[in-house]
Parts: sequence; structure tokens; C-alpha cells
Amino acid sequence: MSIYLDHNATSPMHPEVIDAMMPYLRNPVGNPSSLHSYGRMARSAVESARAEVAQLLGCESSTVIFTSGGTEANNLLLKGYIDRASKRPVISSEIEHSSILEPLQQLRAEGVQVILLNSNELGQVDLDAARSVVVDADAQLLSIIYANNETGVIQPLETLAAMVDRDSCLVHSDATQAIGKIPIDLSQLDIDAVSFSAHKMRGPQGIGALVVNRKPRHRLISGGDQENKRRGGTENVAGIVGLGKAAQVARLEMEHKKHHLSQLRDVFESRLASIPGSVVFGQQAPRLPNTVFFALPYYHGETLLMELDRAGFALSSGSACHSAVTEPSHVLRAMAVDDNLALNAIRVSFGMQNSLQDVEQLAAKLQELIDRMPAVIRQAAM
Ligand SMILES: Cc1ncc(COP(=O)(O)O)c(C=O)c1O
Repeated sequence: MSIYLDHNATSPMHPEVIDAMMPYLRNPVGNPSSLHSYGRMARSAVESARAEVAQLLGCESSTVIFTSGGTEANNLLLKGYIDRASKRPVISSEIEHSSILEPLQQLRAEGVQVILLNSNELGQVDLDAARSVVVDADAQLLSIIYANNETGVIQPLETLAAMVDRDSCLVHSDATQAIGKIPIDLSQLDIDAVSFSAHKMRGPQGIGALVVNRKPRHRLISGGDQENKRRGGTENVAGIVGLGKAAQVARLEMEHKKHHLSQLRDVFESRLASIPGSVVFGQQAPRLPNTVFFALPYYHGETLLMELDRAGFALSSGSACHSAVTEPSHVLRAMAVDDNLALNAIRVSFGMQNSLQDVEQLAAKLQELIDRMPAVIRQAAM
């Protein structure tokens, strides 16, 4: 088996999550809307999970809308909460995930004014440039990624939120990569909404949530009255139970997790530093504890990825959702990284199952691959 180092793409489920879900997969599970005992048991499981999510995030249970994941949560927020007839713009950034950028393109095609803020070279939304755009824009929505999925760079969300009129502008963050990895307390953060997915925090795939403190103008998925009329369709009970357990585990292991992951990251980066010409993107900015987005000057990212895969290491050459595309990452382009270097980019994202031994093995394999290269290629690449 390979050493799995791609936890920003998806993270294997925690054993306690599997145990919590098992009864809901193995035994008859009622429809939470049914009035009989099976239905009532399913409803109670869904509401307990909602309370766990609320406890992790410091929000009211009633603000949690279960969705099929971060993509749906982002789409619900963008398509369900904005006023398409309004002239007031929607502000986001050029370093968002495609599940924000694509719906924004659709909204733009429908006539909504969309403004994308620029990134600086550190991988953060450029605050100076943003100030001149945001303060007078009278935006109806500000949506900024909490931590970027490729670089792990944490965005200056609160500073940006303070630039809009908080009475009339909804502030949302795609926190899919951040929730469960770093503490996020919505009772202390002055924002209205966050999206996330369970499988990025050791829960199951295909379940997530939008947490938002108001009702949508339009429903994205209409049908029954589930989720307090905010998202139709019979709830994914086992998935929701798994998400609830993952939220509980994340809350209880947060400090230990931060410590373990940042230790792995720091040791790996110190090994990378001894490889001439290696670059870690966003290294000078505050980042998630588990993410290292780097490039070696000698290797095209996808070639290196395949070499490492053959050698038993599973990494990503950027965002997993874009792994079929060989264009340089839009995030690195936004950071003004040269296309040739950007094409060499490769992402390691550690998880709790990884050990220092995994880090040392990966570093040794990288060194071995480089030592095997003819010196002439090594020198030409420098
Ligand atoms: C920042 C971010 N937002 C949204 C998503 C979409 O999540 P999902 O694929 O679980 O719907 C991802 C997935 O990689 C992500 O990294």
C-alpha cells in the first residue's frame, strides 16, 4: 500500500466515524420525516449530528443545513441567497475553489455583477487592492475562501468583512479545507455563513453543510420540506451521523492535531530546504498546519507525481478537482508564479495517520529521484 499524503483531496474516515455510521447502514433506518418509531429514531440521529456540528463551530443548530458536500453548499449559498435583480455586486476572489468560481461565472452570465479580488504573491487576498474596491462597492455578498485548498494559505477574512456594510452585505466563507483542521468559532467571527464537506475532516464523502443565519431567497434543490424548507430531499442519515461524529472527533482532537500536523509539515519543509531550487508556495503566509504546496525546478509536477506514485506515495499535483487538467494552477497564476514553475507544483497534505517516518521516507525518495538525474539536467534547471 502507498503512503497516503493527499488529505486535502479527501481524508480516510476515522474509525469512530465508521463505528457510528454502521448501525445506520446495517439496520433498517427510517425516513426522518416518518412519524413511526423508525422515523423518530432517524430524526433524533440527524438532530444529534446537527448539534455536534453546531458545537464544533460555535453556532446555533438551526443554522446548519445538511447538503451533499462543499460544492452543493457553495452553490446553495451563491444561487440561493443573492438577489439576481439587484445591481449590487457579489465580491469574491480569484483564488477560490471551482465550486465558487463556476457558479459565479454562471451568475455573471445571468447579468449579476461579480468582482474577483486579486491575490498577492504570498497567496493572500491583497488587502490594499481590495480596500479600494470593496469599501464603496455596496456589495450584497462577500464570499472568501477561509484557507486555500492548494497552498493552505489562510485568508484575511475578518479584515475583508470589516470593509463591507455588515447590515446589508452577507459574508460567507468556503471553509471546506479549514474546518476540522484549525479552530473556527462562529460565535466570535463576524460572518454569516460557512460551507464545508465531511470528507475533508475524516467524515464520509457525499455529505457536508452550509451554515447560514437566514433563509434562502431560492432553494437550490426543491421538493419536500426537509432541512426547514431550505434543502429538499430525504436526508442522508448515515452520512449525517458520520459528519456529526467527525465534528465531535475534530473538536476533541483539535489541539493534538494541529501540533502533530504542523510538526510533519515543518520537518518536511526543512528537508525540502536542502534540495537546491525547491520552492514552497505561500510559505511566508499563515497556513493550514498540514499543507505543503511546492515545486522542484527539475521535474514537471505530473511526472514527479507518477514517479512518486510508482514508488508508493500518493500526492496531488494541485487541486484534485483539476487533476485531469495540465494548465498551471489558477491559484499560482494569481500569485504571479511563472507558468513553468507552476507546472512543477505538487501538493503534500498530511493527515493524522501520517508519521515522521512517512515524512522521512518521502524526503529520501525525492532526494533519490534527484540524485538519479543526469547532472547536466539538474544544472540546466537551476
Ligand atoms: C476549498 C474547497 N471548497 C469546496 C470543495 C468541494 O468539496 P466537495 O468536493 O466535497 O463538494 C473543495 C474540495 O476539494 C475544496 O477544497
